[in-house]
Parts: sequence; C-alpha cells; structure tokens
Amino acid sequence: MSKTVVMAVVNQKGGTGKTTTCENLGIGLANEGKRVLLIDSDPQGSLTISLGYPRPDELQVTLTDIFTKIIKEEEIAPGEGIIKHEEGVDLMPANIELSGLEVSLVNVINREKILKQYVDSVKDKYDFILIDCGPSLGMLTINALAAADRLIIPVQAQYLPAKGLELLLQTVNKVRKHINPGLKIEGILLTMVDSRTNYAKDISNLIRNECANIGQIPNLEKLVATIRSREISACLILQAKSQLKAIYKDNADTIVGNMDSQLFLGGTEPSTLKDLNQMLGKETIDMYNTGESRGNNPSYSMNYQKTGHELLSVDELAVMDGEKCILQLRGVRPFLSDKYDLTKHPNYRETADYDKRNFFDVEKYVNRKLRLKPDDEYDVIDMG
Ligand SMILES: Nc1ncnc2c1ncn2[C@@H]1O[C@H](COP(=O)(O)OP(=O)(O)OP(=O)(O)O)[C@@H](O)[C@H]1O
Ligand SMILES: [Mg+2]
Repeated sequence: MSKTVVMAVVNQKGGTGKTTTCENLGIGLANEGKRVLLIDSDPQGSLTISLGYPRPDELQVTLTDIFTKIIKEEEIAPGEGIIKHEEGVDLMPANIELSGLEVSLVNVINREKILKQYVDSVKDKYDFILIDCGPSLGMLTINALAAADRLIIPVQAQYLPAKGLELLLQTVNKVRKHINPGLKIEGILLTMVDSRTNYAKDISNLIRNECANIGQIPNLEKLVATIRSREISACLILQAKSQLKAIYKDNADTIVGNMDSQLFLGGTEPSTLKDLNQMLGKETIDMYNTGESRGNNPSYSMNYQKTGHELLSVDELAVMDGEKCILQLRGVRPFLSDKYDLTKHPNYRETADYDKRNFFDVEKYVNRKLRLKPDDEYDVIDMG
C-alpha cells in the first residue's frame, strides 16, 4: 500500500505564495494521476476562492463544520463537505467562520490535533493531502503542523521575509518536540524571484550553497534546468566533480551542462582534471612552414596550416599555480586568472577567516531564545 503524503504549505508572513503553490502543486499532481485532496485551512478562504468559489460564505459545509463535528465527537459521513473540482483535485473549503472556530479552540482538549483526526480519517482515499495555511502561527497553523508529515515553506526571495523564517522554524521545532516528531521540512520554496535584484540573487545563492554536502537532492537535474529557464543563475559548489558523479550518476553531466560558469580552483582529482582538459580543448594555432632549397634551381616554398595543441595538459592542470584559477563562462573561451585575495575585500573583517566569532552557527541561530521588545506584538501559543 502506498503511503499518503500529507504536506502543509506554511509561512506566517502574508502573500508569499502559499495558496498559489498549494493550488498549482495540487493540480500538477492530479494531472500526473495522483489522488489529491486540498484542504483550505485559512479563514480568508483564498484557496477556495481561487478554485472557483468566489463566495465561500455561501457554502453548505466547510472545514469549520468538520472541526465542530470532531470536537463534538459526531460522525463525519464519507466525503462530507468535499468538493470535486473539474481540474481533478478534491477540495475541503473554508470561509471566515473558521476564524471564529480558531478562537473557540482554546478550551478544547487535544486542540492541536483536530485537523490530524480529520486527515487520518480520509487518508486512505488520497496519495497527497495538501494543506494551505493562513498567514499566522495561530492554532490553525499548529493544527496543520501536527497533521502534516512534511512542510513546504514558500519564501519571497527578499531579505526581510527570509529573516522572519526564524520564528517559524522555532515553532516547527516546538511542534516536533511536543506533538509531531516525524515532521520534516521538505523545502524552502523561493517564490516571486526577480533575478534583476541583488537580494534575490543573494538568497538564491545562499540557499543552494551547501548543496554538495546534504546528500542527493531529488530531481536536481530537472531543478537546475528549470532554474535556468527562469533566468536565475544557479551555482553548485563541489570539492570535485567525482562527488557529483557518485551521487547523480548519469545526470551529473546534465547538471554541469546547466551551469553558466565553471570555476576550477586547483586540485588533483583525476576525473575533474580530465573533464577540464577536454573542456579547455585545443587552441588553434596558425603554422607557416617555409622551405628553401638552394642550388642550381633555388626555390622557396611556404606552406600554411592550422593545427592545434592542448591548452593545458592534465599534468599541467594538476600542478597549476595555487594563486591561479580557471573560469569557464558559457559561450566564451576559458580564462586563466589570478584568484581574488579575500583579505582585500572591504568586508573581510566580517568573515570567519578574520575572526572565528563570525562563524555562523545555524543550530544556535534557530534555537536562540526570542527577545521581546516592549512594542513588539506576538501570538503566544501554549504548547502544553
Ligand atoms: N511564484 C510566483 N511568482 C509570481 N507571483 C506569484 C507567485 N506566487 C504567488 N504569486 C502572486 O503573489 C500574490 C500572493 O500569492 P498567494 O495568495 O499565493 O500568497 P499567500 O502566501 O497564500 O498569501 P496569504 O498569506 O494571504 O495566504 C498573488 O497575487 C499571486 O498571484
Ligand atoms: Mg493564501
């Protein structure tokens, strides 16, 4: 029996593309023949509206009724309240009544697991259940985190929303600890990337920088191709090409082929050197051979030919000067260049090379206690 995947699309920041992601992912999966249930868990009802129900307040049954029945321990009829959508997905709709219910959840026993009870009861009918959360970290979102196996966090590729992730990750950690230990973050999805801004570029790079050390990324070859087609530059950093081949096998070439630039900083790993040697190819040189014969009939001949010799042989590459690097940009002949001296950078003092205290410890950052300032407003949720 195949296992149902329950995914929540969360971010307490508004307008990051949660509903859009949920809808498109759901319909995409349905097009692939999967059985999909979309649950609108946002009192704004945006998913419901966007799937073609402009007046969710007029719907007979919504998630609010289902929650109420679970709280009252009443029976839910099979398929109750589910709308079959023409795009092939099922929808459990929501409207503004859900926000009233959220407030009243405060006094309910096991209030974090109401949605989970519903999800568990319909699970066997679906391959995927996607939950669209509203822009808050209130009890409805906690319910979604408790019901889900995986999370997708859409993030607008700008600096500030990325910072706001901290609070969300802290909440996820608490839910893991107290309610749902198996909860995994499937990924942070960059939405609305405007590759013309530097912020977007920084974030795109920032998030993919460590990709060589985290094991296999599913469908990386398709991912980099898609990233390229959206005119965003992707940059993979590897110790050696063999690393990529070991993990991605035949797809390694596709992945490298989709990179706009390759930078070789030196090294002796044989397959990297061989590939690089081939990539550099032969330089064409013009050769003029002249011949002259003397004697009774002196003659002079000149013969012109084009020939090639390897730009840099494998041996030469292996002993390349440590101060040099080779940069290959798509469509341009490779450059042999000096490496940039980091100590000359205006912000060198902020690096961990300059001072160990600058080292960025993600674990510490995520687990840091939140400091409240007098005018800050937060939703406080009792996690039991
Ligand atoms: N990947 C994207 N590229 C461009 N525009 C997008 C993308 N995703 C969403 N949008 C647009 O951004 C706006 C907000 O998207 P959406 O409603 O999906 O965000 P949301 O996170 O669900 O918002 P809320 O927090 O209010 O629920 C919409 O106008 C949507 O069309
Ligand atoms: Mg939304």
